[in-house]
Amino acid sequence: MTPPLSFAAKPTLTGQRVILRAVTVDDATGLAGLIRDPEVRRLTGTHLAVGPAAIDGAREWYGSRDGQHDRLDLAIVDPSTDRYVGEVVLKGLDADNGSCEFRIALGPAAVGRGYGTDATRLILAHAFETVGVHRIGLEVYAFNPRARRVYEKVGFVREGTRRDALRWDGGWVDADIMAVLADEWAGHRGRPALAPVPATWPPGHLGYLRPAGPAARPTDPDPGRLRRQHSRASHSA
Ligand SMILES: CC(C)(COP(=O)(O)OP(=O)(O)OC[C@H]1O[C@@H](n2cnc3c(N)ncnc32)[C@H](O)[C@@H]1OP(=O)(O)O)[C@@H](O)C(=O)NCCC(=O)NCCS
Repeated sequence: MTPPLSFAAKPTLTGQRVILRAVTVDDATGLAGLIRDPEVRRLTGTHLAVGPAAIDGAREWYGSRDGQHDRLDLAIVDPSTDRYVGEVVLKGLDADNGSCEFRIALGPAAVGRGYGTDATRLILAHAFETVGVHRIGLEVYAFNPRARRVYEKVGFVREGTRRDALRWDGGWVDADIMAVLADEWAGHRGRPALAPVPATWPPGHLGYLRPAGPAARPTDPDPGRLRRQHSRASHSA
């Protein structure tokens, strides 16, 4: 019998630009800085007010992440300084359906250096290749093209839009829903622009009859779908 999916193990993952490791109470100052930063708050749609006790809340939060089976909270560390620069999280693990949700936030000093791309690839590789997750989803607001670019670059595919999902500064903002599936990941491992486009595609069947499991996507309701995605990705890479 297959063991149930779990994020109980908290790995240390080394990438090309960052190291990911389990968060600790010592990272609380960094987290408090993130949740206080106005731009991070806007881009993550954070309404929750933060007061002087934010650091206590952050210590309590990070101090309680270790025992969590349904989520993985990793600190993003700059290896040149060994300092916390942000967090990347997989949460809401639904073991029955093999799915979870992704989120990431870097402090303003760390953006635009490739850290987000590297951290995203690292945690996705862990989730798909070590834990055995089937689907990882996320939401990104329309006013965040940098995040959207990172997500497309590593293989997230847009599935739809939640219109007026966020009220911010008196206006309404749409949120795109994106996801990457295990068999897509197996084909590109976080670099869809470099992955070969399949020469032929198996004939399509109804998506909901697709066999569950880690096998390559054998049936697809729209056989041209991935080809178009690959083509778009290579144009925008
Ligand atoms: C979103 C975030 C994780 C991205 O990480 P990052 O380290 O800054 O991004 P990277 O440097 O790895 O890559 C950024 C990419 O976006 C591109 N980019 C930057 N600004 C852009 C813009 N306005 N429009 C389109 N693309 C943009 C960059 O050129 C780069 O793509 P490239 O490698 O093809 O040149 C990070 O900026 C962050 O945490 N921001 C604050 C919080 C946030 O937005 N969280 C996500 C909420 S959904």
